[in-house]
Amino acid sequence: MSQAPEVLPNKNDPCWCGSGKKFKRCHLANAGRVMQGTISPMRYVPDNIIKPPYAATGNVPNTRESAIKSPEVIERMRVAGKAAAEILAKAGELVRPGITTEEIDIFVHDLTIQMGGYPSPLNYHGYPKSVCTSVNEVICHGIPDSRALEDGDIVNLDVTIFLNGVHGDTNATFAVGNISDEDKKLMRVTEECLWKAIEVVKPGMLINELGRAIQIHAHENNFGVVRMFTGHGIGETFHTEPQVLHYFDKFDSTMIREGMTFTIEPMITASGETAHKTWKDQWTAVTADFSRTAQYEHTMVVTADGVDVLTAGPGAVSPSAPWNR
Ligand code: MF3
Ligand code: CO
Ligand code: CO
Repeated sequence: MSQAPEVLPNKNDPCWCGSGKKFKRCHLANAGRVMQGTISPMRYVPDNIIKPPYAATGNVPNTRESAIKSPEVIERMRVAGKAAAEILAKAGELVRPGITTEEIDIFVHDLTIQMGGYPSPLNYHGYPKSVCTSVNEVICHGIPDSRALEDGDIVNLDVTIFLNGVHGDTNATFAVGNISDEDKKLMRVTEECLWKAIEVVKPGMLINELGRAIQIHAHENNFGVVRMFTGHGIGETFHTEPQVLHYFDKFDSTMIREGMTFTIEPMITASGETAHKTWKDQWTAVTADFSRTAQYEHTMVVTADGVDVLTAGPGAVSPSAPWNR
């Protein structure tokens, strides 16, 4: 069972969830926190879909890829980025109280394949599902399972498609039913952080200016910037050079150059916490103080005088993007 019954057991009786633990050591002890449900077996991808090198084994080969892409690669990334944005927007429409994160995973998996692509998360370093679903205090890499979303939750959906040999990576945080004003503000400020960084991108800038812009806006709102997870170069490889920090590091002297493709994906915490813990599954990252956290992500290419956001545009989940303001 993935949802609490109306009448709860006594504290020394077995938990309603079927874990076999006493109620007081299981769902009672963890009241108000996200708990893992059951994770179903890996889903199948048809033979005709072109797969990244790790799909069969879970091992990611150490391929070096130039941070600056050829026009031909950028054109393919434009197509993958648009597809990722479409899948994210459609998956976001499913978010409502009662739906399980596994149901969202099935939708993303099937739609990605229908569009001719491979769901990049699937078997990436052994990750068992096709999308990341991160609820409330889960910062990132939440694994879809049998847990039903609850009214008042916030959930990040992180979609990546491997299409025509390149990856497109984008995520957004969605409200489940009615959420608190604090959570609305956390989501708004986090998306603003992403766009404040995007607006800085220009050839000749140091990449640490992006983290500076994010950190200033987060701190002005008394929010925290998670440090362990970063944005990344992307292309024929899912994660490659350059690393994109979401906080200011004065020693990072990487220069932004025309033709670079990377993601920006700030994870912002409501309490100001910056530290994280990882669940026993080795994937799910939660804030150390269980504070709620939001994230937004885009894939972009640096142009001669600015940036082109490959996962944005009409229909994309970007209410604070310049064209939606
Ligand atoms: N999409 C995530 C990112 O933005 C990576 C997910 S890796 C997975 O970089 F293995 F967890 F899927
Ligand atoms: Co990413
Ligand atoms: Co992502």
